[in-house]
Amino acid sequence: MTVERVYRAADGRYERLEYRRAGDSGLDLPALSLGLWQKFGRDYPFGTQREILLHAFDLGITHFDNANRYGPPHRAAEQVFGQVLRTDLAPYRDELILTTKAGNPIGPSPYLKGGSRKSLLVSLERSLRDLGTDYVDIFYHHRPDPSTPLDETVGALVSAVQQGKALYVGISNYPTERAHEVAALLRAAGVPLLVHQPRYSIFDRTPETSGLLKLAAEDGFGLVAYSPLAQGLLTDKYLDGAIPAGARAAASAFLSPDQIDDVYRERATALNELARERGQSLAQLALQWVLRQPQVTTALIGASSTAQLDHNLAALDFPALTDEELTRIDHHGIHGTGQRV
Ligand SMILES: NC(=O)c1ccc[n+]([C@@H]2O[C@H](COP(=O)([O-])OP(=O)(O)OC[C@H]3O[C@@H](n4cnc5c(N)ncnc54)[C@H](OP(=O)(O)O)[C@@H]3O)[C@@H](O)[C@H]2O)c1
Repeated sequence: MTVERVYRAADGRYERLEYRRAGDSGLDLPALSLGLWQKFGRDYPFGTQREILLHAFDLGITHFDNANRYGPPHRAAEQVFGQVLRTDLAPYRDELILTTKAGNPIGPSPYLKGGSRKSLLVSLERSLRDLGTDYVDIFYHHRPDPSTPLDETVGALVSAVQQGKALYVGISNYPTERAHEVAALLRAAGVPLLVHQPRYSIFDRTPETSGLLKLAAEDGFGLVAYSPLAQGLLTDKYLDGAIPAGARAAASAFLSPDQIDDVYRERATALNELARERGQSLAQLALQWVLRQPQVTTALIGASSTAQLDHNLAALDFPALTDEELTRIDHHGIHGTGQRV
């Protein structure tokens, strides 16, 4: 079947973004990467999804983060990406870093969750079919599974690389000690841990307090910081108390209106004031803040429009945060703000 292509990637797309080395590896990732967790299911127009993906690539965002679970329904986001890869991005496959993950439950079957060899390798096979590619660049275990021997989970990740179905491996949501064990097992197997994907933002300080930032430097892996805008709480969209129609707090099960409370608003407003003094937006401040850590290879953002991508990319144009500004951010950026307890 011939595919008629109309998309041609922008010239000069590698001149805009900074590319940062992932840990001790040889792989560079863009400072901002795009995730397909929200707005890439069947509940959003395909035309907009395609436009966001292609615009991201035109801006130099080469790294697209997926998972078997993303939708709705589960698997839909990989199928959406697969469709765009087929019709538009296929000529650029060598320039893309595609990831997927398995291990978060996607159904009642015991083989659609956890960290078993069966769950991980069967899921990867299905992801490759949905994405329409022979290999992913990074294959992740999505979250720890204490009921499965770590050797088995790590062995499945190693097999994925040995079989040529993944170039690198990563883990996500692993506590620090467990991440260290994974790094040691993978190193011994000759497949070093490339990246760990934790949640990290001004309102979620776990990677700082858990020692994960320190461990990343010691064990030589990079951090892919997800939800750096706290799902939109670290933007100005919720500051006036109203929830815009279609915004995540109105439209998604993962952010609820009751998270937009007075305490949140007071802290976010103070941060917004600091951003305003710097001549930038709260979103731009929040992205710069995450990227100030050398262990953070990339800030993994979501976007519901191309305008959000343009706006967020401009974060990279501002001067570094000063010590005094970082102290002010610490004062208002209190861990747990806006999070469900
Ligand atoms: N490993 C894991 O367990 C895990 C968990 C969660 C996420 N992730 C990964 O991380 C990626 C990003 O997560 P996330 O979407 O929560 O990241 P985020 O960047 O914190 O939030 C993105 C959302 O904020 C809003 N937004 C973005 N820029 C904006 C702007 N300039 N002005 C106003 N609103 C703006 C948009 O939502 P609306 O416009 O819809 O309001 C957008 O979808 C996911 O896609 C996924 O790949 C991984």
